[in-house]
Amino acid sequence: MELEMLYSPQKIGNVEIKNRIVRSATFEHRAEKYGYVGQKILDMYDELARGGTGLIITGFTGIDPSATGSPYQLRLDNDSYIPGHKKLVKLVHDQPDVKLAIQIVHLGRQCEHPKFTPVAPSPIPEKTTGLTPRELSTEEIYDLIKKFKETAIRSYECGYDMVQLHSSHGYLLSNFVSPYTNRRKDEFGGSVENMARILVEIFNQIRDELGKKFPITIKLQTEDSVPGGLTLDTSSKIAQILANTGYDAIEPSGGIYESQLTHRNPYPCKMIKSSEDENYFLPTAKIIKPLIKKSKLILVGGIKNPVSAEKIVRDGHADFISMCRPLIYEPDLPNRWKSGDTSPAKCISCNSCLTIMRTGPLYCLTKKNLEKKSQN
Ligand SMILES: Cc1cc2nc3c(=O)[nH]c(=O)nc-3n(C[C@H](O)[C@H](O)[C@H](O)COP(=O)(O)O)c2cc1C
Repeated sequence: MELEMLYSPQKIGNVEIKNRIVRSATFEHRAEKYGYVGQKILDMYDELARGGTGLIITGFTGIDPSATGSPYQLRLDNDSYIPGHKKLVKLVHDQPDVKLAIQIVHLGRQCEHPKFTPVAPSPIPEKTTGLTPRELSTEEIYDLIKKFKETAIRSYECGYDMVQLHSSHGYLLSNFVSPYTNRRKDEFGGSVENMARILVEIFNQIRDELGKKFPITIKLQTEDSVPGGLTLDTSSKIAQILANTGYDAIEPSGGIYESQLTHRNPYPCKMIKSSEDENYFLPTAKIIKPLIKKSKLILVGGIKNPVSAEKIVRDGHADFISMCRPLIYEPDLPNRWKSGDTSPAKCISCNSCLTIMRTGPLYCLTKKNLEKKSQN
């Protein structure tokens, strides 16, 4: 079979994934008010689970009321959320061998909550929101570490197969690993080890509590794409520290809100005009993969062509490939490719989904418009 590697099983920690295809975390804007699981979100995951993806990662899920930016963003910061998440997990697990990870987040300096001031390692004004975050005290950082741990434990209780920490795109955890947003003088700032400390602490607390039965993965910022921001030089060292700590998988990504001010086509959701623009974190993966040994590498960013995805995995640059926008357009894309129709994803990476997602339930506007046209 042409896509033999892509459709072969592989493990993350002790969890076997039926193929190498991951649905990258995608904010659905479909939760019920205050972050509860409801029918709108269940319908979306049902469609995805039936579509052939091996591992689905949920949209970013809040670890605290102040960690979220929208009342319609998933939360799991207290036990009242557990029954809804259990329903979601069961629905996905009803499809044979589909695994579900939960992505957990605090939005940090990019948080625009009507009731809470954003918080960050250092009080660096955020130029797109116009807000200046409050600097966290050392004690508050330890408190947040505990909240990440408690949310991971709740996730395990709900039946999720693994957790992914969102340490990318300018949200709180990625604020710690960036010299642009972390100017601290305590044990959480300064050296590379200190910048990575929060990620090591969260890992250790979850692992101490749950052991190896619950894999811990991370979406890791590798470059900020702003002047004075994080670069691959530092982030590759951080990736190495995290792999040595025991993280089961790393998904490199990049870009923060402010990258939009200096780049016409910024990370993490670059628009793709030609095949040369595809697989845009592959050069990053080639640098990080040899450094992280036992941790699996999940490659995200502009993956649209199954033949090049197969080659990436076969060449050993990634263990898994991960897609977001292509699966919004075609939730059954992995089944389509497996059935022999290996034409690239229909998604044109126009980012209409990003615009829709900001104000309401996520869908692909381009697909909807095409469907309307064909009906007329
Ligand atoms: C609508 C939308 C929502 C997203 N939500 C999240 C999210 O919740 N967490 C996250 O880590 N990345 C999020 N991303 C980024 C994607 O996971 C992915 O890294 C990026 O879109 C590049 O992959 P792609 O080219 O396959 O779309 C989102 C992207 C889009 C377009």
